Amino acid sequence: MKELERVTFQRAVHPHMISGHLQGSLLRMITAMIAPRNVLEIGTFTGYSTLSIASALGDGAVIDTIEANDEMQEISRPFFERSPYGGHIRQHIGSALDIAPILGKQYDLVFIDGGKREYPDYYRMIMGDGAYSSGMPLIAGGGFILADNILWYGKVANPSCRDADTMAITAFNTMVANDPRIENIIIPLRDGLNLIRVK
Ligand SMILES: C[S@@+](CC[C@H](N)C(=O)[O-])C[C@H]1O[C@@H](n2cnc3c(N)ncnc32)[C@H](O)[C@@H]1O
Repeated sequence: MKELERVTFQRAVHPHMISGHLQGSLLRMITAMIAPRNVLEIGTFTGYSTLSIASALGDGAVIDTIEANDEMQEISRPFFERSPYGGHIRQHIGSALDIAPILGKQYDLVFIDGGKREYPDYYRMIMGDGAYSSGMPLIAGGGFILADNILWYGKVANPSCRDADTMAITAFNTMVANDPRIENIIIPLRDGLNLIRVK
């Protein structure tokens, strides 16, 4: 994981997007607690969060991870292949909004860490609503959704921040807070994670 972090900082254009050790440890812990059979990740980037989650998966459990930028797999794939947890990982290239609905699966855990402006669409798709939904929720009853960067460097609490990313994350947080189908708690670790349980 240290090597992956170093290579990410050497080769990726926005290396700060990596989850890193602290958040990676939280992802591993949460995965171990939930013991999911199927995990969906939106936004593989260089694969740090994928490997953190995969390291806590039990026999036969799978993480489908989707990344829109095909260049990222030049970094992530060799690390997945070398990892003892690589057998749990199914890598997909393209937009999660196109790919996730056609995988035909329901997930016990979804990690949202893709394009910030798409967070409301990811949530609708996962819950089985909206234009990108296949009509079936992608999250199983009793499943968990974990969404990263929901404090967006504190901008969500600053009314003068009205850029598209901040507005979309605020819309996502509001959508979650008002949805009677779920309960949630914001974990103020790093850039904030919204932990959502589908009732
Ligand atoms: C913050 S990074 C992910 C970091 C990664 N989860 C980690 O912890 O190391 C966000 C990634 O989402 C990808 N992305 C943006 N829109 C996407 C989409 N619609 N579907 C899949 N990936 C997307 C970006 O290319 C970028 O690599």
